[in-house]
Amino acid sequence: MSTVKVEVLLDSDWAAGSLVDDVRRGLGSHPLRLPPKWLYDDEGSRLFDEITRLPEYYPTEAERTILHQHAAAVVEASGATTVVELGSGTSDKTRTLLDAFAAAGRLRRFVPVDVSEQTLREAATMLGERYPGLTVEAIVGDFTLHLSHLPPNEPGHHRVVAFLGGTIGNLYVEERAAFLGALADSLEPGDCLLLGTDLVKPVDRLVAAYHDPGGVTDRFVRNSLVVLNRELGADFDPGAFSYVPFWDAHMERMDLRLRSESPQHVRVPGAGLEVDLAVGDEIHVEISTKFRPAGVRSELAAAGFETLELFTDPAGDFGVTLARLA
Ligand code: AVJ
Repeated sequence: MSTVKVEVLLDSDWAAGSLVDDVRRGLGSHPLRLPPKWLYDDEGSRLFDEITRLPEYYPTEAERTILHQHAAAVVEASGATTVVELGSGTSDKTRTLLDAFAAAGRLRRFVPVDVSEQTLREAATMLGERYPGLTVEAIVGDFTLHLSHLPPNEPGHHRVVAFLGGTIGNLYVEERAAFLGALADSLEPGDCLLLGTDLVKPVDRLVAAYHDPGGVTDRFVRNSLVVLNRELGADFDPGAFSYVPFWDAHMERMDLRLRSESPQHVRVPGAGLEVDLAVGDEIHVEISTKFRPAGVRSELAAAGFETLELFTDPAGDFGVTLARLA
């Protein structure tokens, strides 16, 4: 028999939660910003899923290849028996990882952390059936806020925290340092981090991955305004914006913005805000940082993690780093 527990640290009512704070902060000062975590409502999650199947969007497939090839090595090198997954979603990459732990007889506990309670409950039930004897301790929470709620190590055991997909690239450099520092604080020496990072590559491929001809990524980014309309009673006209994805060569990141195409006065009553936009004003919706191996190592080292391995796919498009807290 497997055991499934779900701990809820986030209000399922977004409007009552940190969306309001985020929007007040983000749209209340310049540059205008919307934190990317609010892109993933039901429609946003569906669109992102569609993105992962676009031929131009290589990261998902590249990471899957890496995990298939190296999951057993991760089990061995980490020595962990608890797998924590931040931003777990429904993903099948979780199964690749858990299968490898189970095959080695080292899977005791799985701790998925996700903002979507429904997604977590479905995943937790499915995994409980797939791995008899597994304890699932799901956390409905935000991995930037709730790391201190991770269940502690069982005596004599270690945890590996998987943070995959390249999501760390959504954080600005100072947010990454804060996140890795908080993660280190919530772990014990010997615990590991398995970190997925997209890698720097020629600009044309990077831009293509975020500017697909069918406009799926455009709809995904634009959906952020629909979320604000629904959750905060805002009156954004999504059609009055154009989608502007560009490569910031200095910061080595994709920068995804929405640019106002007309003068607009937008009300956001749920956040007590009114926003004036001139033609050309931009809302910063998401960055997607691309890394170099040396940069990954040094950001991890600054937080106290020693890199054990940096696995890449054969084409060298994507990196999965296994690091241990010293
Ligand atoms: C899920 C954050 C890894 O940055 O590539 C994809 C999100 N945004 N296309 C990324 C995303 C537009 C994605 N991450």
